[in-house]
Amino acid sequence: MKPVELKPGLFWVGAIDWAIRDFHGYITPKGSTYNNYLILDDEPVLVDAVKTDFIDTSIQSISSLADFSRIRHMVVNHIEPDHGGGLARLMELMPGIPIYCTQKAKQGLERFHDTSKWNFKIVKTGDTLKAGKRTLLFIETPMIHWPDSMMTYVKEDRVLISQDGFGQHLASTQRFDDEFVLCASEAELEDAVWDYYANILMPFGAVIKNKLAELDKLGLEIDMIAPDHGIIWRKDPGRVIRMYRDMIEGRCDERVVIVYDTMWGGTGKMAQPLMQGIIDEGIDCRVIKLRATPTSIAIKEFWRARACLVGSPTLNNTIYPYVGQFLMYLKGLRPRNRMAGAFGTYGWAGGAVKEILEYFREMKLDIYEENIQTNYKPSMPEQNNAYDFGRKFAQTVREYHKKFQ
Ligand code: FEO
Repeated sequence: MKPVELKPGLFWVGAIDWAIRDFHGYITPKGSTYNNYLILDDEPVLVDAVKTDFIDTSIQSISSLADFSRIRHMVVNHIEPDHGGGLARLMELMPGIPIYCTQKAKQGLERFHDTSKWNFKIVKTGDTLKAGKRTLLFIETPMIHWPDSMMTYVKEDRVLISQDGFGQHLASTQRFDDEFVLCASEAELEDAVWDYYANILMPFGAVIKNKLAELDKLGLEIDMIAPDHGIIWRKDPGRVIRMYRDMIEGRCDERVVIVYDTMWGGTGKMAQPLMQGIIDEGIDCRVIKLRATPTSIAIKEFWRARACLVGSPTLNNTIYPYVGQFLMYLKGLRPRNRMAGAFGTYGWAGGAVKEILEYFREMKLDIYEENIQTNYKPSMPEQNNAYDFGRKFAQTVREYHKKFQ
C-alpha cells in the first residue's frame, strides 16, 4: 500500500484487510483496516503497529517514506494483537528506540513478546513527547478498549490518533470520511459506527462519557480523528463524537427488533404477526432469525432499536442454543436503556420464555413482563393474539421511547 498523507508530514502507513470475517467472534462482513501512522519530523515517530499478517505491508509503506534507522520514537497506543502483533518485527528494525506506552501496555507486551531488549518509556495522561516541531500529548483511555489503551494527540496538526475509539470495521480504499461517503453513503458509515460501538464498546459507556468530559477539559482543538480501524474523520470529526454522546445517553431509533430462532417453525410463525402488530401501530420493526444472521449483526440491530422481543422454542426445558448464544453475548455487553420482552413455543413443558426474562433481569433491562407462548405451533386465533400482543408492545415502546427524547 502507498502511504496516505493526512497532514503535511503525517502519514497513514497501515493495511486493508478485505478478507477478515471473524474478529474474535465479531463477524465483520465488510472487513477492516489496521491503521498506523508515521510522523516525519526532526525526530520521526511511528504511532502503533498493525496485525502480524499485515506487518510486511506496513513496513513497505514506511520504508517508502523513511529508512527505519531514521525513526527515533515508537508510540504504542494499544497492545491487542490486531495492533501490537506486528510490533516485534518493527522493533527488530528499530532496536533500542524508546517505546512510549502505559504501564499496563508494558505489562501486556511482556506477555505477548520477548521484550527483554525493548526500551519502554511509561507515560501517563498529560505527558508529552517533543519530536521536533511537533508535540505529542498522551491521554490514557483505559477500557477504550483494553486497560492498556491510550490516545495520542498531535498538537500542531490538531490530530487525535484514537486507536480503537471512533473506529469502524470497514475495508475501503477510501481513507477519509468525505471520500467514503461519496463512494458509499453517510448511512453506511454511520451504521459501521453503530456496529463497532455495539460489539466492542457498549460495556464501556460510562468510561467513555468520563473520557469525553476529560477531553473537553483538556480543550483540545481537533481537526481530525484518526482511529486504528476504518475511516479517518476529517470532514467533521465532531460527528462521531456526537454519535458517541448520543449512544451513551441512550438515544437510538424508535424501533423494535424481533430476534428469534425456531425449531419446527412455530416460533418463526409467531414472529410474523408480532411484527405486523408493531408496524400497524406505527413503530418500525426489523426481524432477525439468528441462524440466518451473525450474532454480532443481531447485537448491532438490538443496539440501534429502542426495544427487542426475543423468541425461542423450549428445548430440553431451556432456551434454544442459538438464542442462548445471543443472550450470553448480549449480557457481556451490559446494555442499558432498552426495553425487552419475550415470546416462544413449547412442546410438553415450557421454560425458554421464563429463562429469557431471567436473562433480561440480570442485564437490568426494562422488562415487558407480559409474554406470549404457544404449544408447538400457533393456531390462527393464537396468531391473532400475537398480533394484538405486538400492537400493545409497540404502544408501550412509544411511551418508553419518549423518556429519551
Ligand atoms: Fe483493534 Fe482492541 O483492538
